[in-house]
Amino acid sequence: MSQKVKIGIIGTGGIARAHVSAYRKLPFVEIVAVADVIPGKARQFTELEGLKDTAAYDSHTELLAQDLDGVSICTPNVSHHRTAVDSLRAGKQVLLEKPMSVTLAEALEMAQTARETGRMLTLGFQPRYDPNMKLLQDIVQSGRLGKVYYVETGGGRRRGMPGGTFISKKLAGAGAMADIGCYSLDMALNTMGYPRPVSVSAFTSNHFGTNPVYHPEAAKFEVEDFGVAMVRFENDLVLQFKISWAMHMDTLGATMFLGTDAGLKVTPAGSGPWSGVWDGAVGAMTMFHDDFGGHTSTNVPLIGHSLNLFDEKVRDFAEAVRDGRPAPIPGEQILIQQAIIDGVLRSAEARREVSVELPN
Ligand SMILES: NC(=O)c1ccc[n+]([C@@H]2O[C@H](COP(=O)([O-])OP(=O)(O)OC[C@H]3O[C@@H](n4cnc5c(N)ncnc54)[C@H](O)[C@@H]3O)[C@@H](O)[C@H]2O)c1
Repeated sequence: MSQKVKIGIIGTGGIARAHVSAYRKLPFVEIVAVADVIPGKARQFTELEGLKDTAAYDSHTELLAQDLDGVSICTPNVSHHRTAVDSLRAGKQVLLEKPMSVTLAEALEMAQTARETGRMLTLGFQPRYDPNMKLLQDIVQSGRLGKVYYVETGGGRRRGMPGGTFISKKLAGAGAMADIGCYSLDMALNTMGYPRPVSVSAFTSNHFGTNPVYHPEAAKFEVEDFGVAMVRFENDLVLQFKISWAMHMDTLGATMFLGTDAGLKVTPAGSGPWSGVWDGAVGAMTMFHDDFGGHTSTNVPLIGHSLNLFDEKVRDFAEAVRDGRPAPIPGEQILIQQAIIDGVLRSAEARREVSVELPN
């Protein structure tokens, strides 16, 4: 592609600003158009961001009628399905913010549409661009741990519950599980090569969100602020997954990979009320193994970097569009975690283990 990559942005709220900032660092990209359903908001956004030559529309369908190579979808979760399917059908390449969708049925249709149209649907999981995530994946996939039979992941915030669309069941689908759990799930599942889940047994609660002492919108709080699940996979692998938006605890622990030859512990990067493994950041990595005639542990040297991971994900998408590469983080893969979240919600409601429904 010799011309500039022509990009549109659908939804001009908080995260759209990070997309603009990242695209601006790419000399081969032109932000041609933005759209928002709130009349006039897209125009205000172009003024705020100083996007003088960018067209503004009050609907995503008007934006999609323009000559664009790709779009960033930055709308609330409830609009991901409609805007992504319409964008793919309009021939655009798509970078979609996380989580993929509100329901599993939507995620399946989105992935199917990407396949039918031959367009890319890539998901915005920026923690994947931490070189230490790749290091973790390389260690586990090298076979150094032997057969991995148990993975534990998750984490949470001591206090950090969003409001607005994030706490509506209809608009968000799920709460902490979808909002921040999707990062931990991606960390564990991507490391393991996205194995196929078969069943889930889960428990969820919302003691904090529904309590006016802890949440100003307690009366409207409909989703889970805590969830724990045991997920069974093909090949005798189990995953324990736990996540919370609020808790009386500092951390829900480390991510762990237990193998027959060695174990690997990944501790959270940050500290403070909003920290934890939830953002997928690698703080330290320790391998436990039997060597030199005894129990040994090795601190895995981490890769130092100063990458802005958000910018990296946007750059990878834009370059994939320019170079005709496949989706960096394909929707077909991420719908596996959407199937797990769907199973978690069904299991929690039924109060028993349920099968994960995932067509071939
Ligand atoms: N990757 C990350 O680090 C990250 C961080 C924050 C949010 N997010 C995700 O980004 C998405 C948006 O979050 P946000 O915080 O920017 O929300 P926001 O509410 O600030 O902005 C969303 C905007 O989309 C607009 N909108 C809704 N439906 C639309 C439609 N059909 N067409 C056009 N515009 C529409 C809204 O009017 C609003 O202006 C969410 O899915 C969220 O999970 C990702």
